Amino acid sequence: MPGMSKALTILGIETSCDETAAAVLRLQDGQAELVSDVIRTQLEEHAPYLGVVPEIAARAHAELADLTVKAAMHEAGLSYADLDGVAATSGPGLIGGVLVGMMTGKAIAQAAGKPFVAVNHLEGHALSPRLGNDCPFPYLLLLVSGGHCQFLEVRGLGDYRRLGSTIDDAVGEAFDKTAKTLGLGFPGGPAVERLAEGGNADAFDLPRPLLNRPGLDMSFAGLKTAVARAAEDAPQTEDRMRDLCASFQKAVTDVLAVKASRALEAFEPGKGQEKRFVVAGGVAANKAIRAALETVAAEAGARLIAPPLRHCTDNAAMIALAGAERLAAGLISGEAGDLGAGARPRWPLDEAAANTSPVYGTGRRGAKA
Ligand code: KG4
Ligand code: ZN
Repeated sequence: MPGMSKALTILGIETSCDETAAAVLRLQDGQAELVSDVIRTQLEEHAPYLGVVPEIAARAHAELADLTVKAAMHEAGLSYADLDGVAATSGPGLIGGVLVGMMTGKAIAQAAGKPFVAVNHLEGHALSPRLGNDCPFPYLLLLVSGGHCQFLEVRGLGDYRRLGSTIDDAVGEAFDKTAKTLGLGFPGGPAVERLAEGGNADAFDLPRPLLNRPGLDMSFAGLKTAVARAAEDAPQTEDRMRDLCASFQKAVTDVLAVKASRALEAFEPGKGQEKRFVVAGGVAANKAIRAALETVAAEAGARLIAPPLRHCTDNAAMIALAGAERLAAGLISGEAGDLGAGARPRWPLDEAAANTSPVYGTGRRGAKA
């Protein structure tokens, strides 16, 4: 491919939710090498509120962005002059944080005379399996995080087809709300998973919304409400909480497994091509969900690829990779790059699908499109 033989060294910056992250990545001949990778979570800042508070996130990003970038550059042993470009998440996400990351990235790019690349956070997730694995295009992607829940066909760089998506809450959001209902703290996913381990998944008959509806759209708001009702109905003994967590996790797992199986059946990678199925996003850390997807993939003759946890949840390595791939392919606005790009709270990967079927509500993190 033209332009791919020159090594590109890119600084990536991620600030769209509650992680302030910076990473330096080298891309040569399509091979990515991570030079540094710094992630500062804001868990402590948000924990008292049992969720991400946008204003607190924006302030924390403002305090941490410079330090995080400096740490990543220091770890890489490079100066800004050594870079070939600077990439920052420009949406979708919490706008205050996105603005901080973009301003930081644009300022460094301008001062160092390097192109700036405006990166779609979802594209970062979509490309994340390419950070460490042999994962050529095309592949089927299930992105399951606190802000996103969608099936995408990743055909190539900048070429995505949305196959289905949640019509209300994201899966991680449902985990977080279940944890909140049960007083388990934040973030909810790991806490719910831990309790679910000792519980009876058949104890509560919870809904599996849209399970039998054709297509790949999903819904988790009704499930979340059903959990809240079940929790109200009786005293929350430790055993009941375990059973409720297990039943909730089973309901989510069933929905994802059935939809994934359907998606894999329809996914045609092309003649002689291996079927690759990637699961990314924070919820991909869940062992029960992973195991179910592993089974579904095996049944469909597909290879399940799950990036390491560090690159499943929000990180800057995936933003640097998306920036580097875009730069290598010449997909930037001009010589100075995307300096004129603005922050976008909503930015669907498949604009056509989002325009023809805008079924998605505004989520807590505003990034479900
Ligand atoms: O990808 P991520 O770090 O941030 C977003 O872009 O949203 O995902 C965070 C989400 C949270 O909702 C968290 O509760 C969920 O991923 N999560 C889990 C687990 N670990 C994190 N959900 C279920 N089981 C887990 N083990
Ligand atoms: Zn994310």
